[in-house]
Amino acid sequence: MAGLENANSAPSAPSASARQGWSSSLGFVLAAAGSAIGLGNLWGLTYRVALGGGMAFLVLYLVAVVVLGFPLLLAELALGRHTRRSPLLATVAVGGASWRPLGWLFPLGSALILGYYAVIAGWVAQALLAVLQGRLPTDQAGADAFFLKLSQGWAEGVAYGLVLALTVAVVATGVQQGIERLSRWSMPALLVLLTGLVIWSASLADAPARYEEALLQWRWSDWLNPRILRQAFSQAFFSLGLGSGAMVAYGSHLGQREPLPRQAAIVTALDTGVGLMAVLIIVPLMSAVVVGRQGGAGAVGSLFVAIPLGFASLGNAGPPLMAAFFFLASLAAVTSAVALLEAPVAVVMDRLGWGRARTAWSTGAVVALLGLPALLRTDLLMASHDLFGGVVLMASGLLLSLLMGWVAPRQLTEELSQLPAPLLRGVLLSLRWAAPLLLGGVLALSCMEMIQPGIPLLGM
Ligand code: PHE
Repeated sequence: MAGLENANSAPSAPSASARQGWSSSLGFVLAAAGSAIGLGNLWGLTYRVALGGGMAFLVLYLVAVVVLGFPLLLAELALGRHTRRSPLLATVAVGGASWRPLGWLFPLGSALILGYYAVIAGWVAQALLAVLQGRLPTDQAGADAFFLKLSQGWAEGVAYGLVLALTVAVVATGVQQGIERLSRWSMPALLVLLTGLVIWSASLADAPARYEEALLQWRWSDWLNPRILRQAFSQAFFSLGLGSGAMVAYGSHLGQREPLPRQAAIVTALDTGVGLMAVLIIVPLMSAVVVGRQGGAGAVGSLFVAIPLGFASLGNAGPPLMAAFFFLASLAAVTSAVALLEAPVAVVMDRLGWGRARTAWSTGAVVALLGLPALLRTDLLMASHDLFGGVVLMASGLLLSLLMGWVAPRQLTEELSQLPAPLLRGVLLSLRWAAPLLLGGVLALSCMEMIQPGIPLLGM
């Protein structure tokens, strides 16, 4: 462990053994699933599928989850648990001082993501409030106005502030009492609501035709389309919350006896399953024409138009179903926001030795400022997602795969001792070769497309 002494001597880093643990395996799995399952699952897959090329996209997405997502999730959790340090000190502990930039990229990236993520979470909360008050759009013009109202004016600012304050309050309360306790009830509630909505949506009269149209069309050109490939990989990455250091932070509270591979597999399966369920719910509700009309608001905006309109078309059943949907989306958003805040909070606590509550509120205040551009301009929100939720996350993921694959394979192997040998070889192969090559390629494609204005890069 090249730099552990280095990390240990950080001025006020609390001792690794004093770190609070999760109260149980289940508590950790639910918290990690809470981090992964978020607006990315509900919005991202659906949007991309609605644009066409649904089948190729979904298959490539699943390939990305297996080849890239699962190994990187293992690597992040292993790094956290092995060092029992925050993301910043963890990279230095296994790789030495030259890996400090990656350590900084983690908290920086997640704070920047949280800034715009909280804006969208605020829209979700407002949409929930609107439906509870019976304000549901009934036609296209009403739906456009509905979204404009969510995304402008003082109400948007208030919702943004409240989402951030709630997130800070959970993180400030602690790993067990705050994060784990929230996930313990919200994740099961989310899964129950989601299952109910899938059953209902799939039983709509034209559901089979819609599924066939959106998911079962085989077109050769889709498979060779670099944009579909890139979006599938970015989506897998964002959805699992990789490259943000959140899983390093969560892993650092994990006991030595916990079966890391099994837990990572459950989290991956839950995250992917929820994404697919969201597709099954939304596809029958949405007419393809609606999506993609929102200009600068792109992916996210068009769904805030299409989904309420879809629910409104269901008559009396619409409002309660839409309330259930936006309630579960709020739960998903808050547990992910909490994970995004935990990464920088852990770093500041480790670095400056501040208490949790003081760190959480100060970091939250910085995040609130970082998110202002996205709050004020929806096109900047989309640009932030492309840059921070896409390029920055994947760049950290690439560096992480190099760190754990080449520099610290021994530490990785120690943490993954329960993994059968062939699978361990597969994980190492992915971290050493597949992840750097694929992420390098996808990053290059993203940068090329970012230079061409007007193209929504990632359908979150
Ligand atoms: N995975 C979350 C989502 O799908 C977002 C997230 C990204 C959470 C990075 C934590 C870290 O919405």
